[in-house]
This record gives sequence, structure tokens and C-alpha cells, in this order.
Amino acid sequence: MKGLVLAGGSGTRLRPLTYTGAKQLVPVANRPVLFYVIDNIVAAGIREIGVIISHETGEEIRRALGDGSAFGAKLTYILQDRPLGLAHAVVTARAFLGGSDFVMYLGDNLIGHGIRDMVDAFRSDPSHAASVMLKEVPNPTQFGIAEVDDAGNVVRLVEKPKEPKSRLALVGIYLFRSVIFEAIDRISPSSRGELEITDAIVQIIALGGKVKFTRLTGWWLDTGKKDDLLLANDTVLDDWLEPSIEGQVDEASRTSGRIRIGRGSRVERSIIRGPVIIGEGVTVVDSRIGPFTAIGDAVRIERSTVEHSVIMSGSRVLDIPRLEDSLIGKRVVVRPGASRHGALSLMVGDDSLIELSTE
Ligand code: TTP
Repeated sequence: MKGLVLAGGSGTRLRPLTYTGAKQLVPVANRPVLFYVIDNIVAAGIREIGVIISHETGEEIRRALGDGSAFGAKLTYILQDRPLGLAHAVVTARAFLGGSDFVMYLGDNLIGHGIRDMVDAFRSDPSHAASVMLKEVPNPTQFGIAEVDDAGNVVRLVEKPKEPKSRLALVGIYLFRSVIFEAIDRISPSSRGELEITDAIVQIIALGGKVKFTRLTGWWLDTGKKDDLLLANDTVLDDWLEPSIEGQVDEASRTSGRIRIGRGSRVERSIIRGPVIIGEGVTVVDSRIGPFTAIGDAVRIERSTVEHSVIMSGSRVLDIPRLEDSLIGKRVVVRPGASRHGALSLMVGDDSLIELSTE
């Protein structure tokens, strides 16, 4: 069995962060989402993995993942010329996939447990042509939704239904046999101009194939927007953070809860309340950090309080009395201005959101 990770696309929803970087590399607890994806596939016993990349962010993805040996995988990069849909990505990977069964995994999806059971069940039962992962959601009109029967089969799939007949959303993890290619041959682009994987799965059913499903009982985070990303960060810090302090914390500082501090980082005269992850080469001086905060590499925080936030590498937060619920990109500086009459002085990139206290 092979793996196919989709790390192309246009990534409009996470702008402005994704102007300068791939959305699959946005960090959750200081680790790109894509790393958790590769780990999950390898943990299911699959080592040969194709990675779909785009012109815009392909190089960055290659640099981050390398040849895959750091993950115990062998990676093959496959360029998709334009983001013409998930089924189009499968067709683009046809030569790599050959006739193998494969798991297709969206590179920006984060789930709370492994896929090994789903993969093992698919391997041991050749009567299924495909298998999908489903999760009950409160707002089914915003997802691809599956209708299922009592025998455990998917009977119908509808993309963003206006009148949903079920609340079971398609999580971005699918298992296919090579009949998927025949199914894709039978579909045409949807109203948004994409070859939809849901349409292809409907065709598998039309061709007489059985589509099995696994219910995801743990969490699923689609890291599409700021609040989703903060929630993903909270959840991963809560569930998976393993405490370790490799940097230096001076005697005037206090720490509580689960904390991870990377090599070369210094904490002086500060209070850190876990769960908190601090990367490498970070300086925290006269500040309060946490809970639920991830600080990337080479960040400087001085005389500030930072709570429930993600601060990416190379940024500086100086003299800010309270920063919370914030997502700060790379190499950003947040500091008070020199103006004394309450005027703001900003230099902010496109599509940013600035929410100021009005008290
Ligand atoms: P989506 O979130 O559906 O699409 P997108 O990346 O275009 O995002 P946005 O809505 O933010 O503009 O994509 C899911 C995953 O699949 C994501 O990791 C990107 C990847 N993808 C491809 O690799 N090729 C494609 O043609 C598409 C549509 C998505």
C-alpha cells in the first residue's frame, strides 16, 4: 500500500500567513501540521508516500520534509500544475500510484488518533473498493456529507448539502483501490471548476463498489482559519505535549504545568504557566507566558504577558501588557509606539486583522 499526501492547493483561507508559506507547514505546537500527517501514515505501516505539491509552495514543502528519512518514509514529490481538485491530484499521481491500493490524506488535516485500524481493516477485506473516515459535525452544510446504511456502507455523498440528511462529514482521509481511476474518468469538473473526490466516490458506488467507513471518535481539526488554528494548538498542547526543559530557566522565574523549552532558550525573571511550548534560541525576560501558548524558534519576549497565542519564529513582543488569542506570523514585531497621544503607528501586510482594545 502507498500513501498520497495532498500538499498543493491555493491556501486562501489562512491568509495572510499563507502568502509567504504553505498552509500545510503552519505550526501546531511548533510542528508543521504536515509532519503529523506523515507520522500518521508511517505509523500505519506505509512508507512509500507521494506528496502532491504546487508551483507556489512546492520548494518549501520539499525543504521541510526532505527525502522522508527523518520520518522513516520514502517520499516522491509530484507537481500538480494547478489546484484543479482532489480527484485531479489523484490523476496527477497515477504513475506513482501504479496499481497499488493507497491512502489519500489531506496535508492540512489534524486528527486526534492514528489511522492504523482503518488501514488494517481495509487491507484485510478486499470486498471494499474504498473506505472513508467520517466525523459527526454540528454544521453539516459546510462539509462533504455521507449518508450510510446499517451494514456500515456509504450509500450517498453530497458536497455541502443545503438540506443535510446526515451529520457525518468526510474527514480528509480516504483509502482507495485502483478502481478510483475508472471512477474519476467518469466525472467532470463541478460548479467550482474542480474534479471532486466526492463525485468520484459516488461513481465507485455506481460502478457497484462498496464504500466502507470508519467513524472518527476523537477530535478532528481542520486548520483553515485563525480560531481553528488556535484550537488545534490548544488541543495538541493539551493531549500530546511532553515536558522537557533543555533551555535555561533562572532562579527568579517560576514554572507550573507541562512545559517544553528548547535548546539555547533563556527564561529570566518570568512566569511560565503550562501547557506551553517554547522553541530553540528564544529569550523570555520579565514576562508571563501561557497557558496554551506556542512560541517558535528565535522569538524574543520582553516585559510582556502572552496568553493563548501562537507566535511564530523570529518575532518580537516587547512591552505589551497583555496579548491574548493571537496568531502572530514570522519575524513580526509587536511593541508600543513612540507616540504619546494615543495615535497608532502600524506597518501591516495585506489581509491582516488587527483588533485593538477600545477600553
Ligand atoms: P482545500 O482546503 O480544499 O483547498 P485549498 O488549498 O485550495 O484551500 P483554501 O480553501 O484555503 O483556498 O484543500 C485541502 C488540501 O488538499 C490542502 O492541503 C491542499 C490540497 N490540495 C491539493 O493538493 N490539490 C488541489 O487541487 C486541491 C484543491 C487541494
